[in-house]
Amino acid sequence: MIDESTVEGRVALPLGVAAEVALDEVRQLRAGDRPTHGGQLFAYVYDPAVPGLDELTAAAHRESAHVNGLDPTAFPSLLAMENALVGAAGRVLGAGPGTTAPDVVGSVTSGGTESLILAVKTARDAHPEIAAPRIVVPSTAHAAFAKAAHYLRVALDVVPVSPDTLRPDPAAMAAAIRPETVLVACSAPSYAHGVVDPVAEIAAVAADAGVRCHVDACFGGWTLPYLRRLGEPVPAFDFAVPGVTSISVDLHKYAYAPKGVSVLLHRDAALRAPQYFAYADWPGYTMINPVIASTRSGGPIAAAYATVRHLGDDGYLRLAEVTRDAVAGLTDAVRAVDGLRLMVEPESTVVCFTATEGGPDLFVLVDELTARGWHTQPQLSYAGLPASVHLTVTASVAPRVAEFGPDLVDAVAAARTAGPVALPPELVALATSLTPDALTPELVAGLAAGLGLAAGGTPDRLAVVNTLLDAAPPALRERLLVEFVGLLQRPTW
Ligand SMILES: Cc1ncc(COP(=O)(O)O)c(C=O)c1O
Repeated sequence: MIDESTVEGRVALPLGVAAEVALDEVRQLRAGDRPTHGGQLFAYVYDPAVPGLDELTAAAHRESAHVNGLDPTAFPSLLAMENALVGAAGRVLGAGPGTTAPDVVGSVTSGGTESLILAVKTARDAHPEIAAPRIVVPSTAHAAFAKAAHYLRVALDVVPVSPDTLRPDPAAMAAAIRPETVLVACSAPSYAHGVVDPVAEIAAVAADAGVRCHVDACFGGWTLPYLRRLGEPVPAFDFAVPGVTSISVDLHKYAYAPKGVSVLLHRDAALRAPQYFAYADWPGYTMINPVIASTRSGGPIAAAYATVRHLGDDGYLRLAEVTRDAVAGLTDAVRAVDGLRLMVEPESTVVCFTATEGGPDLFVLVDELTARGWHTQPQLSYAGLPASVHLTVTASVAPRVAEFGPDLVDAVAAARTAGPVALPPELVALATSLTPDALTPELVAGLAAGLGLAAGGTPDRLAVVNTLLDAAPPALRERLLVEFVGLLQRPTW
């Protein structure tokens, strides 16, 4: 996009351009993205399709973009907005005056991953006497727990889920708790399948063992209480459950705020204390950080504040109702197609389906759906669970639901006609026999070129890539994707 012809000689950067040219470049680049609005993208974005909300959040973001959350005494506006967001999240999740959790406190973080890393760090640092701390999670827990464990040098004990319910057995969670366990975690709901774990039972076994229990409600924690109010059978999962010590909820998901905002709540200030990092042993300012980032833009916090204030309780209830109806419509569409089956009956805002014996190739189907404008998320087979297609359903999908059914039928027919991806035998052999350590840069470059992943872009059709990854064990999947993404992340000189 940058016009090389304007660069004279060896300068550090290309010469400046007019503001409208710079903005136009951004817009041109954005045109290649998947559409964030319009109700056809079933992952990554959360769109309530509320008129005027984008303008409101952009204006709020602009007001606070240059404000720094590092120092609440210099910028009390951010502290006030953070406290209001924590209060709002607490109220949604069964805390606050008049509840059984009146002392809940919390922090605003940059996202679900930061909230989970901090939940693990807080639990770890509450036990400095444990030399080799561990956490227990179900296999469906978000990958950010594994990242937290990796970053914080905490061991991860993974409890398998039932292939039918996609939930862990609380007794198995209890059995996984050891003397070094500092945290037991579960999801409400899980990202992959939208399933609410048996929180009350898991929190009880954690409490019995004297261990903290974190509920990862990052994904759907903001919708479940509203779905319950609409009459859906949502089990107890929040601070009303004894033994739940912390909960995370992402405002940039179903609170429909622009990206960069999550809330981490603790049942009381004493439980939160180890979350803070303070450092006075240097000649600069004494640093006190409640969260991982030090300098923090006020933009996302102000945008989230404006979103929550504007939509309000009644707005979220209405959006949950619209979303619930969209989930029902999409579920019916999947049920009506021969060759597909739901992984589990939807109980939140996810529709997740797989193929039956003799059904279409799911990765080809995903490409066929993409070709028809529907951007779904393929999930690879894992530990006895088949590959599946994930739909994160947001309110914006509702007006498009009627179009999805016929397009799904069409896409399935096309996928059947195309047949499954036939990987060259040498690629299959590679995927099933190669160890991650044996991957050389040359091998990766050859693979990437063969798969159409070379030279700074991804192909329109990804079934071949997904089929290759699906054939590989998780460690090789990780390594291959690290290498592929590394090839994409190259500077534009
Ligand atoms: C259940 C759950 N936890 C944590 C995360 C991580 O959130 P983020 O992508 O905001 O870091 C996600 C993201 O989808 C999620 O679904």
